[in-house]
Amino acid sequence: MTKSFYVTTPIFYVNDAPHIGHAYTEVAADVITRWHRQSGKDAFLLTGTDEHGEKVLRTALGNNTDPKQWTDRLVESAWLPLLETIDINNQDFIRTTESRHKVAVQKFLKQLHDDGFIYQGSFKGNYCVGCEEYKNDSDLVPGTGDFQGQQVCAIHSKPVEQLNETNYFFKLSDFQQKLLDHYEKNPTFVQPESARNEVISFVRSGLSDLSISRSKERFDWGIDIPWDNSHVTYVWFDALLNYITAIGFGEDDAKLNSLWPADVQVVGKDILRFHAVIWPAMLMAAGLQPPKQVFGHGWLLVGGEKMSKSKLTGIAPNEITDSFGSDAFRYYFMKAIGFGSDGSFSWEDLSARYQAELANGFGNLASRTLAMIHRYFNSAIPAPGTYEPADLAIQEVAKSAVSGADSAMQKVMIHEAIAKTWALVDELNNYITIQEPWALAKDEANRERLATVLYTAAEGLRVLTVLLAPIMPKATNKLFAALASSLGRLSDQKIQDSAVWGQLKPGEKVTELEALFPRLDENQ
Ligand code: ME8
Ligand code: MG
Repeated sequence: MTKSFYVTTPIFYVNDAPHIGHAYTEVAADVITRWHRQSGKDAFLLTGTDEHGEKVLRTALGNNTDPKQWTDRLVESAWLPLLETIDINNQDFIRTTESRHKVAVQKFLKQLHDDGFIYQGSFKGNYCVGCEEYKNDSDLVPGTGDFQGQQVCAIHSKPVEQLNETNYFFKLSDFQQKLLDHYEKNPTFVQPESARNEVISFVRSGLSDLSISRSKERFDWGIDIPWDNSHVTYVWFDALLNYITAIGFGEDDAKLNSLWPADVQVVGKDILRFHAVIWPAMLMAAGLQPPKQVFGHGWLLVGGEKMSKSKLTGIAPNEITDSFGSDAFRYYFMKAIGFGSDGSFSWEDLSARYQAELANGFGNLASRTLAMIHRYFNSAIPAPGTYEPADLAIQEVAKSAVSGADSAMQKVMIHEAIAKTWALVDELNNYITIQEPWALAKDEANRERLATVLYTAAEGLRVLTVLLAPIMPKATNKLFAALASSLGRLSDQKIQDSAVWGQLKPGEKVTELEALFPRLDENQ
């Protein structure tokens, strides 16, 4: 059985509804998965929700409900609908409250306990409920405002809580050298480079064992420790396992082996250490391979700080998609922010790029090419005559767009892949401006030249539909249906074959195309 390309997102806390930061991660993971599927592979995207732990429990109680009802309601009303809003094609959605997950987590814990990786000890330290994470003093910063004079979590700006209890520990410290060896042997295991360096220096500075259970005297919203039901599992230990419990760990080895190890695990840099340190150590302890890559992307910032649920600085994704549509949402965030770097969202930048790059750039290229085929060739793809240097130059630009975008995507440089693709959009628009097909159309003697120019433009557009399908599934499907339905489905066009010239068949009809990116005032 061939292995599928397996991509994951973090599973998000359901303490509140999603904002565009969560949507950003979802879109990136979806674009990566669709790219590999468009390359002819089986590709599988997993996403889901992280529902246990103190943070979710406290939020539910604070809203006068119990955590089960709270999470059920929020998943149904907000987290599942998010996937529709931004057009995510995920193959599964896991909730950590599902029994398939709970049973498998207990099997994993039992195995590690039986194999001597878990022991009982006592714990004293600081805990940030916002992060659901134990903090070292070096992770804290001086508080401001209400918390002036106290040390607070650098991410949540709230004081940490003192914990002092007996619980179970995972022997994380045993894995320091194994992890360092793994980073060394697999230079792209943690990406981007800045994330890799941070992780390596963190691990070099030494690893402590990890407390992985909480006494039910404190709270019981979690998965029971299988050999001691007076404790529940630490929420991160439970949550990280979703990546294998969703695909059959402990239940369906064939399925597990067809997907694991994951090819790309996309996370925000806030949770990089969990994914690049604790998670591979857990897998090593269980005799499983680490994922092939953990990619830690940057943050969407508001006023220079990470946009967050807990600071109420989130923008709801549908505030953007209601007027711009899901394709523009996906395009904007993937193009405007270098994947791996932080970025600030602004309505002005979004509107400007929508107008210049989508409506006037790609959208106009599509509509004018099709309009001229309708007008001058009675809606049939014209047969090209002899190619001149300008036409051959377009074929070369198409080839380098395909190879450049593909090699960028292999490195998960999504913004770079779009930039390489956009060279073809710009070049085609220039080509049409210079060739002036509307002028050629005035003289019957130029008929063959007109046919060659419009065939070249149409072929260029065909290449663009394939390259942009992972980014903008809706617009590209509409365009492909109007331009190239004789070639079958867009989903069957392989990226790597797309620059082979001459696939559109002369004589085949093109159909009407509605504006792909309508002017915003028409849209409202
Ligand atoms: O950490 N910019 O869940 P979470 C970019 N349940 N991405 C952002 C973002 C921002 N401003 N805000 C959030 C958890 N994200 C755990 C994960 S995984 C086994 C468990 C995205 O709800 C980004 O992907 O706090 C970040 O890592 C994630 O949401 C954190 O989501
Ligand atoms: Mg968070």
